[in-house]
Amino acid sequence: MRMTGSRSRRLKSLARRWALAGLCLALAPCAHAAVLAPFEVAGDAIPQSLTGDKGDPARGRAIVVDRQKGLCLLCHSGPFAEQRFQGDIAPSLEGAGSRWSEGQLRLRLVDAPRLNRDTSMPSYYRIDGLNRVAPAFKGKPVLEAQQIEDVVAFLASLRETPTAQEKP
Ligand code: HEC
Repeated sequence: MRMTGSRSRRLKSLARRWALAGLCLALAPCAHAAVLAPFEVAGDAIPQSLTGDKGDPARGRAIVVDRQKGLCLLCHSGPFAEQRFQGDIAPSLEGAGSRWSEGQLRLRLVDAPRLNRDTSMPSYYRIDGLNRVAPAFKGKPVLEAQQIEDVVAFLASLRETPTAQEKP
């Protein structure tokens, strides 16, 4: 059977669109699996590093005070003398490393609502089961595994005694 030019063009573009949709469907699960590193929760902690390595406290501090990335200071205050605006709806991060182990800090960052369903603290390393996700964040965690480890390393360095504290 012979098709007119325009009809065959339409069929071809339709086929191309279906092929693209199929590709997206096929890739979607891999994209998700590739983004989140697997981790195990033990009690109220994630004992193992998400990357297998220790994070960098200086990079972690930068993420915590960043108004676009971590947004931590929207709710928390802490030993950040140079930061004029700090939050007061959550506990101060001062001394967090004395109160919590690295594993406990990691779970609180990864998925705080696991420990307290009603908390306003966001899940920084989670992609499914979130409601009210901005389109830009769909399908990716707010922070990457390396950034979580950097923040954990920074928080762990915040000790109760001012002398042991990280200076900016
Ligand atoms: C929208 C508000 C909000 C944001 C943003 C937020 N948190 Fe929290 N966070 C809380 C609240 C509220 C708690 C108290 C625990 C609870 O509600 O269960 C908390 C608890 C914590 C704790 C445990 C504190 C303690 O000593 O009990 C740590 C550590 C922490 N947050 C770190 C962070 C870091 C780091 C960031 C940024 C990457 C951050 N939070 C962003 C609201 C927030």
